[in-house]
Amino acid sequence: MESLPQIPGPQLARFRGQGGALDIDFLQYLGSGVHAHVWKVRIDGAIYALKMFRFGNNFTPASCFHVELSDEEEIMYMHPFNCESRAYARLHEANEEHVAIPCYGYILLDQEQQKRLRKRDTTCDWVKDWYYSDAYAGRPVQALVKEFIEYDNVGARERGLDANLRRVTRAIDSPKTARALLDNMATLHRIGILHRDINNSNVAQGRFLDFSTSWTKPHPCLDPEQIESSDSPFHQLGITDAYDVDLMIGHWNQYHPPKRRLWFRAAQSQEYLKRLRSYSKKFKDSRNFIWEWTQEYPGRPDLCRWESEDMGAKQRRSKRDWRKQCLRRKEKAKQIGQHDGLKIYQPA
Ligand SMILES: Nc1ncnc2c1ncn2[C@@H]1O[C@H](COP(=O)(O)OP(=O)(O)O)[C@@H](O)[C@H]1O
Ligand SMILES: [Mg+2]
Repeated sequence: MESLPQIPGPQLARFRGQGGALDIDFLQYLGSGVHAHVWKVRIDGAIYALKMFRFGNNFTPASCFHVELSDEEEIMYMHPFNCESRAYARLHEANEEHVAIPCYGYILLDQEQQKRLRKRDTTCDWVKDWYYSDAYAGRPVQALVKEFIEYDNVGARERGLDANLRRVTRAIDSPKTARALLDNMATLHRIGILHRDINNSNVAQGRFLDFSTSWTKPHPCLDPEQIESSDSPFHQLGITDAYDVDLMIGHWNQYHPPKRRLWFRAAQSQEYLKRLRSYSKKFKDSRNFIWEWTQEYPGRPDLCRWESEDMGAKQRRSKRDWRKQCLRRKEKAKQIGQHDGLKIYQPA
């Protein structure tokens, strides 16, 4: 069967197991988020985590980013299953799979496999999630086969210091994993992936666990020309991810004594910049402020150029090209700023 999704760009291969029909045992419910239910499963004798995506359009449409897409394109580029498949396919292609919990391919659960899950399941809402009714049941459910990890599944309703500390430490458990998270995020941006939802339920010990909101180049919302002409480009730039990582580091610091606090950041704090006098002038115009702030984290996934055989020498070249492009845009921005005398960044 073909790789998915069938649009230009990276495509994820089907999970093959040992070949033939997959024998799936549903062992234990692991957790769920907005987009999917995750189960511990045994497939052909080996243990995995199976992430099964809900039907329905539970994603932000491209129009919110001033990009118009057809209905079909909207599904292909914005649906959580396709977003996650494309991101994993890109990691595989660029040989950077170490930044995430490994994914071994997709499967489409047929009626027989769904029946098996229904027998064991007490948590999923089958009518709402997978449109079950008397007349209709069993459209294939899209799923990703991932490595199973021991993940502290703190319930959304659990409150208090202890629950929060568990949330923090499942994502970052030491300064070393915090550093790794910073590096891993930079790797994503370099190879053209914008994560868009970095938080402590989507990160496991510095590695990414969930890509269901990520955009991967080539992507209509990651077009440099469109982004630079937009009035509100903030959510399409790498700085959003950098800001989320910094929030996570901030959470770590809240729960640790001064000796164990982390002082490095992915980007300059927005609050700090706003307090600077040189910035307060610029902040009057929020668009310029965003561009200026963006310079604090110059890694821009939209500037990565996707090429189908992006490996080996070609990959190294694209890494150099990307760095050069980021630097060039930064330089250019500065020049305009000096010319203005006000040091206001205008997109190149
Ligand atoms: N590989 C895994 N091993 C163990 N638990 C997992 C794994 N992947 C996900 N989970 C659990 O399932 C929950 C939801 O998964 P996630 O991929 O974040 O779904 P969503 O896209 O709906 O947010 C996670 O918070 C975690 O508790
Ligand atoms: Mg999640």
